[in-house]
Amino acid sequence: MLCKRFVAILALAASTLVASSSATSVDGGGRAVAARHAAIHTPLPRMIHRRAAKKSASSSSSKKLASSSTTNANPGYDADKVLSVAKKLTTHSWEYGILAEALLEYYNASLSVFGSNPFPNGKVPKPNVATVQALSYVKPNISISGNTLSNGDGAAGDPASLVVPATLIGGTNAAYTQAVDRQIAHLFTVPLYSNGAISQREAVAELWADAVYMFPPAFAYNAVRTNNESMMHTAIIQCSRYRQILQPTTTAAWSGLWQHIVGPQSQTLGIWATGNGWAAMGMVRVLATVKKWETSKGWTSQQALLTKWIYQILSGAVGSGVASNGLIKNYMVGGPNGASQSPAAGDFGDVTGSAMLASAAYRMMVLDPSGASKYLSWANGLRKAVAARVNGTGYAVPNVDPLNWFNTSPYYQGSPEGQSATGILAASWRDCVQAGRC
Ligand SMILES: *[C@@H]1O[C@H](CO)[C@@H](O)[C@H](O)[C@H]1NC(C)=O
Ligand SMILES: *[C@@H]1O[C@H](CO)[C@@H](O)[C@H](O)[C@H]1NC(C)=O
Ligand SMILES: *[C@@H]1O[C@H](CO)[C@@H](O)[C@H](O)[C@H]1NC(C)=O
Ligand SMILES: *[C@@H]1O[C@H](CO)[C@@H](O)[C@H](O)[C@H]1NC(C)=O
Repeated sequence: MLCKRFVAILALAASTLVASSSATSVDGGGRAVAARHAAIHTPLPRMIHRRAAKKSASSSSSKKLASSSTTNANPGYDADKVLSVAKKLTTHSWEYGILAEALLEYYNASLSVFGSNPFPNGKVPKPNVATVQALSYVKPNISISGNTLSNGDGAAGDPASLVVPATLIGGTNAAYTQAVDRQIAHLFTVPLYSNGAISQREAVAELWADAVYMFPPAFAYNAVRTNNESMMHTAIIQCSRYRQILQPTTTAAWSGLWQHIVGPQSQTLGIWATGNGWAAMGMVRVLATVKKWETSKGWTSQQALLTKWIYQILSGAVGSGVASNGLIKNYMVGGPNGASQSPAAGDFGDVTGSAMLASAAYRMMVLDPSGASKYLSWANGLRKAVAARVNGTGYAVPNVDPLNWFNTSPYYQGSPEGQSATGILAASWRDCVQAGRC
């Protein structure tokens, strides 16, 4: 088992780089491995401080894979295998959230917000859970006893990433609906940033780009279930408030990209590919939900705003260039400390951020073909570069170390969210092909 070692990382200050030498050890195979389970004193970032629950490989491998009968297009890699590895690696709240979304988008596309009619008669569907792999797989990992859908380990946003699968399960099991109600209510009790943005952290007001994937799509979906227009507005407004704080003003080619974290605990001003991927994909899900709900499909000005914010990220990503392996750079400009960090650090080509950003472009090709067409060849290039990095076992590497974004070295052991994002990339491209737009 990887990472048996615990290596203390000194968190020097929230915005300073973790000294990579002290965070590196050598595993049994002689490879340098950055510490993922780091004992840190203060502050407490969402991921790096906590012990990742050890996942027993047998629990996931014993579950049967549904066949990908909805697929007849080949993205250049075996998405079934990629998603099977995703299941093996997933152990944390937000990882289950993106895994459920990936399984839904790939195996039961019609139930996801990217389906042609995800809200028949204006309502969320009530599928048979046993026939939907996304739901049967994550159901045991959704908590229905507390105020949040899983243990967020101090993160307010992450457990909300399970609202969509919990809502779908709730169609035939009221305990899950009640748990969703408590989770949504809980989001309204966490600290607010000065502009009204809901914090990613329970203890302080702190904004993480990641959070845009975790809770605005949950508000949007919940707006449909509870027939609450105001909540749909809240989903959109929260995206705008995150953008207001995280998007720096610049005239550089990468203009439009977001910083990772602004706040008192874990501030990290780096222009991080995965953070931009979370934000773009989250806003794409909100946009799809707005467009497909009868009540909000006519909200053209709000849709135009979301579309603009998504394209700002995609344009910035195009402007940031790619690494020698054809993938988006993990720190797209500069390094973890910010865009002006020099020399650049952590700028290796990263599968996770690349898969996320390319999938956002493919989704936009269906939601807004004329506006998105300028990103199509870029997305195709990224998809091919990702495909070239999927090995025979279905691992899509290298990635940013999934539990330590300060680590500036490429990570080769597999990333839960990177695997799920690669599955989402396959689903997004396939749906674009099936729509006749890719
Ligand atoms: C998720 O649920 C499965 C099935 O019950 C279980 O084996 C696994 O340990 C759970 N994962 C976590 C992190 O608790
Ligand atoms: C989900 O997809 C599987 C095939 O991947 C199919 O057998 C099943 O009927 C679908 N479930 C629903 C509710 O559409
Ligand atoms: C509708 O959503 C808003 C948040 O936008 C919330 O404050 C309000 O309580 C919700 N209304 C109902 C009836 O749940
Ligand atoms: C694929 O990569 C993973 C993670 O690095 C590794 O464990 C596995 O052995 C690789 N598979 C092949 C066929 O090279």
